[in-house]
Amino acid sequence: MKKIAVFTSGGDSPGMNACIRAVVRTGIYKGLEVYGIQRGYEGMIEGDIKRLYSHSVSNIVQRGGTMLKSARSEEFRTPEGRKKAYDNLKILGIEGLVAIGGDGTFTGAKLFFEEFGIPTVGCPGTIDNDIYGTDYTIGFDTAVNTALEAIDKIRDTAAAHDRIFFIEVMGRDAGFIAVESGIGGGAEFVMVPETQTDLKSVVKSLKNLRKTKTSSIIVVAEGDDLGNAEEIMQKVKTAIKDPEKEFKVTTLGHIQRGGKPTARDRVLASRCGMAAVEGLLSGKTNCMAGVMNQQVVYTPFGDCIGKPKPLIEDHLKLIDILSI
Ligand code: F6P
Repeated sequence: MKKIAVFTSGGDSPGMNACIRAVVRTGIYKGLEVYGIQRGYEGMIEGDIKRLYSHSVSNIVQRGGTMLKSARSEEFRTPEGRKKAYDNLKILGIEGLVAIGGDGTFTGAKLFFEEFGIPTVGCPGTIDNDIYGTDYTIGFDTAVNTALEAIDKIRDTAAAHDRIFFIEVMGRDAGFIAVESGIGGGAEFVMVPETQTDLKSVVKSLKNLRKTKTSSIIVVAEGDDLGNAEEIMQKVKTAIKDPEKEFKVTTLGHIQRGGKPTARDRVLASRCGMAAVEGLLSGKTNCMAGVMNQQVVYTPFGDCIGKPKPLIEDHLKLIDILSI
């Protein structure tokens, strides 16, 4: 293998740049020509592909976003789009790919490999942490810390005014960001899609808590089965029936996707990037390089996207116990 290309796809996440840097520099270190594809599968289809050098990735390890830009490509879902992408790679003689992204990225990569056979190794880049085959995904730690900083600030004002705050965090269909920012932020409740939220018991507990606490923080994962934070707040407010109690909602939104990656994300990104290139060179394909129990592991794309990743046992119990 002489030429490889790297791209970022789907929702960006802090640490993607550190991962690109690791892919480029490991590739060059191993004697490869490395190319960067702009805007994920979109750029592959349009042939927006450029050679990257060691200096091309200088001064990006600390930056959020992705220097290669990212997109969600509708055209790549079609056989015609994938054929165009393959033709562009063929023209440049690209023999291997590193795909940095989440489940949508790996679904596309798996299909593309099955159709055209270009070896591909993935790196888990998403704030959601919803990828099987790695303990954490690149960007998750930064997103949790961003959410936590916001929760801390909201707690100050919640306490000052004796208010109940519902804070909605991202995560798509997963509750990892909610759980970890909830534990770190001392939330009274965390509502996640992985468990069914029992509204009656939340209302009962909130009423009981009022004997000892005057303000409360409830972290709501965006994918919760009871609805979004605003809808849940309205249901709780109606059930509590206390005209003197004030309820507020804050949706943190895309602030969670940006910012300087934490050290943990930069190290994870660098390890996965290096492992992806080493994996390609040792003949691995159709799999993702992740880190589990401190060790680099390669997991087939089929498992990464097909197997559910459970929340860490004890985390929800921890919130119940520590919020009394
Ligand atoms: O997958 C990352 C993520 O930020 C999710 O947490 C969220 O549901 C989604 O992307 C938002 O996507 P977009 O930026 O396209 O609105």
